[in-house]
Amino acid sequence: MSEFNVNQIRTDFPILKESVNGKPLIYFDNGATSQKPKPVIERISSYYTHENSNVHRGVHFLSDQATNAYEQARTTIAHYINAPRSQEVIFTKGTTDSINTVAFSIGETLKPGDEVLISGMEHHSNIVPWQMLCERKGTVLKVIPVTPKGTLDLDAFDALLSERTKLLSIIHISNTLGTINPVEYLIGKAHQVGAKVLLDAAQSIQHLPIDVQALDCDFLTFSGHKVFGPTGIGILYGKKEVLDPLPPYQGGGDMIDQVSFEKTTYNGLPLKFEAGTPNISGAIALGAAFNYLTSIDLRGAFKHEHTLGTYLRARMREIPGVRFIGEAPETSSTLSFLIGDVHPLDLGTLLDKQGIAVRTGHHCTQPLMKQFNIPGTVRASLAFYNTTEEIDQFIVAIERSMHMLS
Ligand code: ALA
Repeated sequence: MSEFNVNQIRTDFPILKESVNGKPLIYFDNGATSQKPKPVIERISSYYTHENSNVHRGVHFLSDQATNAYEQARTTIAHYINAPRSQEVIFTKGTTDSINTVAFSIGETLKPGDEVLISGMEHHSNIVPWQMLCERKGTVLKVIPVTPKGTLDLDAFDALLSERTKLLSIIHISNTLGTINPVEYLIGKAHQVGAKVLLDAAQSIQHLPIDVQALDCDFLTFSGHKVFGPTGIGILYGKKEVLDPLPPYQGGGDMIDQVSFEKTTYNGLPLKFEAGTPNISGAIALGAAFNYLTSIDLRGAFKHEHTLGTYLRARMREIPGVRFIGEAPETSSTLSFLIGDVHPLDLGTLLDKQGIAVRTGHHCTQPLMKQFNIPGTVRASLAFYNTTEEIDQFIVAIERSMHMLS
């Protein structure tokens, strides 16, 4: 493993050499999806060229090979997040699917009046499944308020916790504000009242080391495509003792033990939660993404990204009329902002014309937009393959855009 060198790392990501609108691509939309390194792209191609077959089904050579590769990917991911057992790692379609799985399965064990606690900075995928559960089961949804700085109101959190709280489902890093939540504190407090904790790591697994045993979360969810893997694959980690008693989410092939018209029995973990033919190539390529991360100087990569985030915020403060949405003391390299009364879409469109990809809009956090009384933001979200030179060009592009809009 050689020391982190951003120019070297960039050669692993072919798309970073692309031009957009005649300008070299500056990709600052990593919160929406990250780019893929060559080993991930090549792994998908080699799977379909040499190994394609269904898993857990055939006695033939290819099926065996595909099953081994699929299960090896599970083990790789379990090691990366320090899960004690690989059967605690379930392949899903993505974070949304992972949260819906928990909401359904744990939901079956809840009684009317039981409470689920989320926060005001959740992505819609960590709001709507719980609202659907509340409609189905009479569960009560409680929301931890967000302060004007974009942090969680911890006094309110303490006051909301009670023996009625059965689950805390909380975002680790806000996709909109960049806020890094004090999850060790939240998890410890929730456990004191006997609540289980789901940690939504969709925006943290690509920025911070994640150790599920150190965090002691009961569930962890993330999407493959945000951590340099393919789309359509994600992870639900759950403690075995928490997952074992839960009913399955979907019925079908692979999740069964015995099927008869009188009674069907279910498979054990992890297959109980993997009904139907899974996204085999996606899972294997996600394994390749984690192998890639462990092959580079990841500590150096995270440090570089932290430096970029600090530099981005410092340079952005130089822009007249800029307003940051989210000014927590602990943030990731994601920055949401507005400038004067310019509509985010107008600025985003002008940046695109200059080859710069940002996300504009509500970022699937409409309640947060309502709280800040804004229609949306411009969001720059970085990854470790970005550079300070790109940030400098981004600032010049914003200044040029503001000139055009004035
Ligand atoms: N949840 C993703 C984002 O924040 C799509 O952009």
